Amino acid sequence: MGIEIKTVGIIGAGQMGSGIAHVCSLAGLDVRMNDRDPERLKNGLATVNGNLQRQVSKGAITESQRRDAIEHIIAVDTFDDFGPCDLVIEAATEDEVIKRSIFSALCPSLRPETMVATNTSSISITRLAASTDRPERFIGIHFMNPVPVMQLVELIRGIATEDPTYESAKAFVRRLGKIVTVSEDFPAFIVNRILLPMINEAIYTLYEGVGSVDSIDTAMRLGANHPMGPLQLADFIGLDTCLSIMQVLYEGLADSKYRPCPLLVKYVEAGWLGRKTKRGFYDYR
Ligand code: CAA
Repeated sequence: MGIEIKTVGIIGAGQMGSGIAHVCSLAGLDVRMNDRDPERLKNGLATVNGNLQRQVSKGAITESQRRDAIEHIIAVDTFDDFGPCDLVIEAATEDEVIKRSIFSALCPSLRPETMVATNTSSISITRLAASTDRPERFIGIHFMNPVPVMQLVELIRGIATEDPTYESAKAFVRRLGKIVTVSEDFPAFIVNRILLPMINEAIYTLYEGVGSVDSIDTAMRLGANHPMGPLQLADFIGLDTCLSIMQVLYEGLADSKYRPCPLLVKYVEAGWLGRKTKRGFYDYR
């Protein structure tokens, strides 16, 4: 048996961190959210409130559920404020060096029994676990974007993850009303192993002049019943995140079929990262 998760720490107040804070608080868990950038932390809390409000206006939740949820979230400035947490979830930038430095700074602030998870979408759980002082209580909990809407959460055990950690993580995800799938610890796990090569191929399709942005997205929306076209989805995920995942696949599986499209590389180099910078395959300005 694992521990029951009642208080959750979240590192990173971007679209994933704020989405995770949203669903945890709505499930009645106490949430402590941190970001090294105070402005992003403020924006993250505003995003949670805005998305809860949207759910109220759609009739998905009541006004009193929204208020309760907001009361369950507090913004914290330092990792020492994670002391009461049963679980801390890292949802920072998809960069291994950044994540590793967060874990080394985080662990000394935690109680020995606190579990640590990463929301990485591609990086080895075993390798990240090795940068903590508790690989047996470390696990991958990979949420999908937008977190309040998407049903799935992937769980990924590292080589050292113990059964009680896995059981606690599974119970936690179920408490959020999400469906669990389990993936082995291979580059990009299941969803992104399949989704990102498809997005990369859509970018190659644009790069080689096979079709316009509109033709490619319309083709996949109406021809394959995808809710969003692959280029629109790439902008939604963030082109920097898409590139990082393709690089992990390319390096980790050593197969040229995962080579990131040069156009994707160029967009990221230009700082055109999709919706978050208001420019990607579409213009959001
Ligand atoms: N918070 C709360 N509710 C939200 C929301 C948010 N952030 N975003 C959308 N919604 C709700 C809307 O209020 C709406 O609710 P109702 O059904 O009650 O009306 C519903 O979701 C649908 O939203 P919209 O009507 O605004 O727009 P839509 O029908 O185009 O759906 C979408 C939007 C859910 C994002 C849909 O386009 C979609 O499913 N897109 C694909 C998303 C996807 O593939 N995500 C996975 C990305 S990969 C990933 O996350 C892994 C990774 O590591 C990179």
